[in-house]
Amino acid sequence: MAEAAHGGHEEHTDAVRDLSDSESISAAAPAEVGLRFEVDGEIATVTLNRPEKRNAQTFATWSALARMGETLPDRVRVVVIRGEGPSFSAGIDLRMFTPEGVPGQGSFATAAALDDGAFERRIAEAQRGFLWLRRPDIVSIAAVQGHAIGAGFQLALACDLRVVADDVQFCMKEPALGLVPDLTGTKPLADIVGVPRAIEMCLTARSVGAAEALQLGLAEMAVRREELDQAVQDLAAALLATDRAAATATKRLLQAAPGRTLEDQAAAERAEQAARIRALFASS
Ligand code: CAA
Repeated sequence: MAEAAHGGHEEHTDAVRDLSDSESISAAAPAEVGLRFEVDGEIATVTLNRPEKRNAQTFATWSALARMGETLPDRVRVVVIRGEGPSFSAGIDLRMFTPEGVPGQGSFATAAALDDGAFERRIAEAQRGFLWLRRPDIVSIAAVQGHAIGAGFQLALACDLRVVADDVQFCMKEPALGLVPDLTGTKPLADIVGVPRAIEMCLTARSVGAAEALQLGLAEMAVRREELDQAVQDLAAALLATDRAAATATKRLLQAAPGRTLEDQAAAERAEQAARIRALFASS
């Protein structure tokens, strides 16, 4: 039975501050920023829950996501990120481009007035909402249907795995709006599809559908829209069948592999295996 997880969230209800003269946003309660956070056993589910606005994201969304990472119950091993309604997420809330901005959060015009240090800290804070999804002790899965544009695409890329519906449309629209993708999406995108394809996709801002996403490795699995939630649950169950310590150590190895020489990776495998075997046979 799913429970709404409250640990650490409720005390942050009034913490979204006006950014016109400040640089950071404290985490608000998930529901206040259009998110839902539920824990069912070892699985946590984060739902983008503003379907009437196609799950558009704000700085408050990202602060709340970061807070979820910080307060994730220890027992959670799989984190599912999903979106309510027809679209996973239409990206950043376009009100950020208007002079009025998003109430309580300012606009890009007010952000432009921040000095370099404040600007840097504000983007770093937004990125914190994405980076924890790579922690070795969890596996994150994005369940993506419909549009995943800009920040929506980057949120899906922040996850370890992507399961997509047949109507998915990934689009990195930032360059077309005069921006760069800055929510940690450029590295996983380039790592997965290669630099030339990433340049082509980002600079044309074209959409990538399910078949191409599978072919490029942007999705591990594509299913019919009505099968998406079940497919993600089945994948989560299969992941949970593996011993947690072995899964964590293996994810740590695989994450580090691209940046290491073969020799260094072989040494890392030896170290991880020694720790595993000692742990497994310590009591026998
Ligand atoms: N921000 C705020 N509101 C949005 C939104 C967004 N990004 N996307 C959609 N909405 C709102 C619409 O304004 C509309 O609201 P109203 O009903 O009040 O008019 C509602 O959601 C439904 O939208 P549509 O009628 O357009 O829905 P659709 O299903 O026909 O189209 C869509 C969906 C293709 C995603 C289209 O809404 C769209 O193109 N949205 C904008 C996408 C975009 O450019 N996002 C920015 C990406 S760049 C980025 O994210 C920057 C970054 O990281 C720094």
